[in-house]
Order: sequence, then C-alpha cells, then structure tokens
Amino acid sequence: MSDIEAQTREMLRTVAEAGDMAALEAVRISVLGRKGVLTELMKGLGSMHADERKVMGPVLNGAKDELTAAIAARAQALHAAALDARLALERIDVSLPARPEIRGAIHPVSQVMDEVMAIFGDMGFSVAEGPDIESDFYNFTALNIPPEHPARQMHDTFYFNEKPGGERLLLRTHTSPVQIRTMEKSKPPLRIIAPGRTYRCDSDMTHTPMFHQVEGLVIDESAHMGHLKGCLIEFCKAFFEVETVRMRFRPSHFPFTEPSAEVDIGCRRSGGELRIGEGEDWLEILGCGMVHPVVLRHSGIDPEKYQGFAFGIGIDRLAMLKYGIPDLRDFFEADLRWLQHYGFAALDIPSLAGGLSR
Ligand code: DAH
Repeated sequence: MSDIEAQTREMLRTVAEAGDMAALEAVRISVLGRKGVLTELMKGLGSMHADERKVMGPVLNGAKDELTAAIAARAQALHAAALDARLALERIDVSLPARPEIRGAIHPVSQVMDEVMAIFGDMGFSVAEGPDIESDFYNFTALNIPPEHPARQMHDTFYFNEKPGGERLLLRTHTSPVQIRTMEKSKPPLRIIAPGRTYRCDSDMTHTPMFHQVEGLVIDESAHMGHLKGCLIEFCKAFFEVETVRMRFRPSHFPFTEPSAEVDIGCRRSGGELRIGEGEDWLEILGCGMVHPVVLRHSGIDPEKYQGFAFGIGIDRLAMLKYGIPDLRDFFEADLRWLQHYGFAALDIPSLAGGLSR
C-alpha cells in the first residue's frame, strides 16, 4: 500500500511538473490512459482476493480521483498562463502614435462624408440613415415616380428576385428614400442630411455600380427656394474652402421636387488641373428643389401646412473635384498606393473650426 502511495506521489509530481499542454497530455496518458500505470493497477483488482480488493479498491479509486483532479487543475493553470503570455505579447498601447511603416489612411469618400457632415452639422442639420436594400415604394412610388414612369428607366436599377407575394426589393438608386422614411418617423420641423451608398447598373470613368450620395431635407412652415439657395451656396463655399464660389442654378426636372434645379459650380480646367470657384467652365454637382406636395402627402405630412426643400449631392463627385481625382473607378480598387496618395491622416477629424482638409 505504501508502494502505491509512493507511486501516486510520484505521478502527482510529474503532473505538477508538466510544462505545457502537450507534456500534461503525455503524463495523463501514461497514468490514466488505456495502458497507463494506474489503469494497469486497477485491472489487477479483478484477480485479487475479496479482502485485499476491499482495501485496494478505495485506495486505487482515491488515487485516480486525486490524479484526475490534479491533471484538471494543472490544465487550467497552464491555460491561464498561456493566455497571460499571449496577452502580454499582443499588448497594444493605444496611446502610442501611429507607426510610420503602417500607412493606413482615411479614404477620400470617408473624408468628404466627414467634411459634409461637419458643414451641415454646423448649420443645424442632424444625420439620418436608411437601408441600402429598399422597397419599390420608398425608392420610387413615394417619391412621385409611379410604375411606368420614364424616370424609372433612367435609374438602371439593380433588382432582387421576386418574392412569393410578387414584391421585388432593390438596391436604392439614390438617397432620396431616406426623405420619406424620415418624414414618416418624425414630425416637422425637420432638418436632416442622409449620407450613404447608392447603386446603379453603370460603369465608366465617372460612374461606378456603387457610389455615394448625401441627401438633404428641410421641412417647416416657411422654408423656400431662397433658403435652399443660401444653404447650398454656404455649403459650397465651406466645402471647397474658398471665399466666393460661382454657382448656377439651372431649371431641371425631378418628379419629387417642384420647382427643381440642378446646380453647377464655376471652375477652370487648365493643364490637367481643376480650379474651383473661378474660370469659365461649369460643373454639375447636385440636384435640388422644393419638395413636391405628393411626396409630402405620401409621407403623412400635410402639404397645406408644411413645405420645404431637398437636395441630393454626389459625394464621389465632390471628392473628385476637391481632391483632383480623375477616375472614379480607382476609388473602389482597394489599391494601397492610391490610398497613400489620396488618403487622409486618421486623426485629423474635419471640423469648421479646426480646418476641413488640412
Ligand atoms: N435623387 C436624385 C438623383 O439621384 C438627386 C436629387 C435631386 C435629390 C433633387 C433631391 C432633389 O433631394 O431634390 O439623381
């Protein structure tokens, strides 16, 4: 019996000394495995005299319990130690400055979105959002584009497969559906912008199947075209960081606004360079207008009492103009060299006070 006690103590020592999980597993097999020391000893119980078995049974079972518990405890200790070692090794001091060899950068689209939000935020607009996957109602019908309306063709829509009930969801072709969702949810006065992704089946130097827009919506009892103009002129001056900017409001047509306009800004193209706010050329940057009464009614707002204006700006277009990026498709190539050239430092948050794009 003392022999078994001595053996058990020896086995417990090897358990305690196992330096890693592999060593511990080897010990476990050598003790408790099919051919393990203790297993072999327990096999001997069967051929013992009853008296002897009465004594040896509990001794061996006790040893087995003790060893099993010791192995489990050791496994837990090894596991905790391994975790501690890994945590120590992978520790990151988040207060350290960025390492120069890691050249991540803010994408121009994100930069421009941040700039746009800073400018409109300063004018008292809040930010609204809507889903990328839209219903036909929000993307078209509620915006006064009924089925069969020719404007639907112009949108090159990506449709999903028809659902059992016949409904076909789609990828929103513009951020305008967020106007409807916002008006349904909250009561006027409203002053929101809605930046986000939009999709059309189109691809060339100035079109990509996925692009970005920012929608604007102001609804109250007296907002008029003069407010719309003032708001967009202030936006352009702040965004392009110029004292004066030449702008042209051209009459246009959108089913969801009446009257509607498209806005061009004056620019000069010379020697591959594009200068904003001066020169004889014009560049279209946005669509806008007074929200159509039908759209208000579709959203549960009384057009006899409320009125307002809306606008939709192409974010990628703004980024190309402001930062002189010639090909839109490069925006989505995920080329690190391109990002290093056109990207922005991660910690320079755009603000009107601190500077938009330094
Ligand atoms: N949704 C239009 C488009 O994608 C842009 C637009 C025009 C938005 C006029 C507006 C607006 O809110 O009033 O081309």
